[in-house]
Amino acid sequence: MATLALALPRRTEDRLLADIVENGHAVVARPSTVDDILDLLGEATPDVVIVGAARSTLSAELIAACDGGGIRLIALAATDADRRHAAALGLHEVLDASAGWPEIERLISGGVVIPLRIGDRAAAAGPARAGSVIAVWGPAGAPGRTTLAINIAAEIAAAGHTVVLADIDTYSGSVAPSLGMLDEAPGFAAACRLAGSDSLTRTELERVAQRYDSPSGAFWVLTGIGRPSRWPELSSERVTRTIDALRRWVDYVVLDTGFSLESDEEISSDLFAPRRNAATLTGLRECDHVVACGLADPVGMARFLRAWVDLADVITTDRVSVVMNRVRSSAVGLDPRGQVIQALRRFGGIETAVLVPQDQQGADAAILTGRSLRDAAPKSPARARIRRFVRAELLPVPDQAPSRRRARAWWRRAVTAG
Ligand SMILES: Nc1ncnc2c1ncn2[C@@H]1O[C@H](COP(=O)(O)OP(=O)(O)OP(=O)(O)O)[C@@H](O)[C@H]1O
Ligand SMILES: [Mg+2]
Repeated sequence: MATLALALPRRTEDRLLADIVENGHAVVARPSTVDDILDLLGEATPDVVIVGAARSTLSAELIAACDGGGIRLIALAATDADRRHAAALGLHEVLDASAGWPEIERLISGGVVIPLRIGDRAAAAGPARAGSVIAVWGPAGAPGRTTLAINIAAEIAAAGHTVVLADIDTYSGSVAPSLGMLDEAPGFAAACRLAGSDSLTRTELERVAQRYDSPSGAFWVLTGIGRPSRWPELSSERVTRTIDALRRWVDYVVLDTGFSLESDEEISSDLFAPRRNAATLTGLRECDHVVACGLADPVGMARFLRAWVDLADVITTDRVSVVMNRVRSSAVGLDPRGQVIQALRRFGGIETAVLVPQDQQGADAAILTGRSLRDAAPKSPARARIRRFVRAELLPVPDQAPSRRRARAWWRRAVTAG
């Protein structure tokens, strides 16, 4: 049984009431405006609040209050304007106003009645191996974080592992448009909200995530934040809980992070100001492996080397792979690979780096079709280099016969030099 507060048009409420009672739930309040609901939540904590998705009964403040109280919020949309309003607020729990009670009941039991959380699932199934988390980070100036994150996810999935790619870049989230997906309702923010109310079940993850389908290896995608109104949800605690849940869901979690490493407290003294960098900082601290990427031209290298110092303040750099992207002689002169390696060594003390070549054709084909390089341009030289990097440094080396293992060790040394 759940306790419900209903803020619905009279006709919708009348239609649902008999089923609500028949299913053993109790309606504890019938507020009629957002302010009424907020007042109510100051005094009581129903399990579920069901509202019309119009502006009069649904607001960002209400979502935050429900999140804060661990209350399930479900909106019923009667018009396209309602749907757009709910989507703009990033609410996933939205049904058509004509939905029957069984549909609503399914949403309710997704997070309230069935208390099977990710952690419980793991406990019930015996000790589960937690997945690895890889954070792709790089400084400002579009060095290729999203391109690398997508293609790392695609190559890991193609190697037969389960993968989720999460867009946690609160400045320029672009995984969804890069993969031709809708980003109306940000999946990562939704997952954080559910984690905040302790409702992040496997079923919920599969509902808020989208699937990148590919014959060579499909993977899950949690889309990013297109609207600033959602930042406050990404508190460090929620991001940590969400990453933990993702680890238990799949073998590999790939995070496309933002560029800024400034701690939010340094930017604002306001305790309640949105924590814009919390997701990136938490992702970097929680992950097992960081892929730090920079642009292989004089400006990109300078930015990377400056930011490298900041990165070392946030994490220990021994679990970082450096990737220099878009390597080309037209921007650095003769022997671009040698020049990039030398600059990293001399000015950053970085001994090894992966060099991904400039590949306009491949990158454009991927963007045009909303696909990974593997799917859009399988012969792309950038893809070939990313694939080798994934196999050599991110995936476990499979057991091999001794002679082949020696050959591979030699090959690994050779690739880390370029
Ligand atoms: N190796 C490459 N060769 C050619 N173009 C590339 C390569 N890698 C990335 N690009 C292109 O560079 C642009 C920026 O890449 P991407 O969006 O991955 O950068 P980002 O670091 O995520 O940027 P942002 O700061 O916007 O998040 C894109 O148009 C992408 O197609
Ligand atoms: Mg990006």
